[in-house]
Amino acid sequence: MKHSGMSEDEVARYWDENADSWSDQVRKGWDYYREYLNNPAFLRFIGDLAGKRVLDAGCGEGHNTRLLARSGARMTGVDISRKMLEFARAEEQREPLGIRYEVTSFSDLSSFPDASFDAVVSFMALMDGPDFEGAAREIFRVLRAGGELFFSITHPCFNTKGYSWTVDADDNPGKLTVSDYFSDQPFVERWKFSKNPDSKHVDPFAIPVFPRTLTQYVTTLIQTGFVLKAIEEPRPSEEACKEHPWLQRWRDHATLFLYMRAAKP
Ligand SMILES: C[S@@+](CC[C@H](N)C(=O)[O-])C[C@H]1O[C@@H](n2cnc3c(N)ncnc32)[C@H](O)[C@@H]1O
Repeated sequence: MKHSGMSEDEVARYWDENADSWSDQVRKGWDYYREYLNNPAFLRFIGDLAGKRVLDAGCGEGHNTRLLARSGARMTGVDISRKMLEFARAEEQREPLGIRYEVTSFSDLSSFPDASFDAVVSFMALMDGPDFEGAAREIFRVLRAGGELFFSITHPCFNTKGYSWTVDADDNPGKLTVSDYFSDQPFVERWKFSKNPDSKHVDPFAIPVFPRTLTQYVTTLIQTGFVLKAIEEPRPSEEACKEHPWLQRWRDHATLFLYMRAAKP
């Protein structure tokens, strides 16, 4: 199902607006979920891509694209936000890693020939576009036979439009409540990197989200021709929770993220 209600041009405008603040804060390490949960877990999930031709779909300002390039992958990054890619390209000029960046949607990869990548990765981006079917089709086309797609998204079953935490009498987080799981209406989420000590003075990001059910993600992959190889729902370890108590609720109650690995036969 392709979402209507918000165009890709509108999505790009939102991300252009976010780009300055996003790049600054991600580069300063204030995206704690990336630093302390997702990157350790998802990079382990992806494994070694050294020497491979890899497309990063929805690469943003290129933080993780650069991580993979430094570990030996031959990286190309695409993003729909021109502004995000300006930051990515400026960094490539400052520290050349051989990364090619293209402004385009991951649902329209027509600037790349068929079978031109060994792997496609996507970090927390595919839930932010209206056309997952188009993205799956295009990614499948640009992968070589035997190539694999690895992506992370916010978990469609828990991070729904209506999710929130209850609090107990002492103001501690209690249980996760979830609602609106079946809603397919795009909405704009507003949030901050709350660990930024300057967060009070920083405007929240405005992020368009296109909700889908787990069934829609998996069915789209299967109908496109992918073979699902692995899924993971990252759970912080006890040690990580001791060091970062804010992670505890994501160990005790639910998982915030979902990873999938799918192969082109
Ligand atoms: C949450 S950010 C993640 C960026 C990057 N992957 C990272 O880990 O820092 C989501 C990114 O997806 C991009 N995006 C949203 N829709 C897109 C689309 N249809 N095609 C390509 N990029 C898109 C946004 O511009 C934004 O840079």
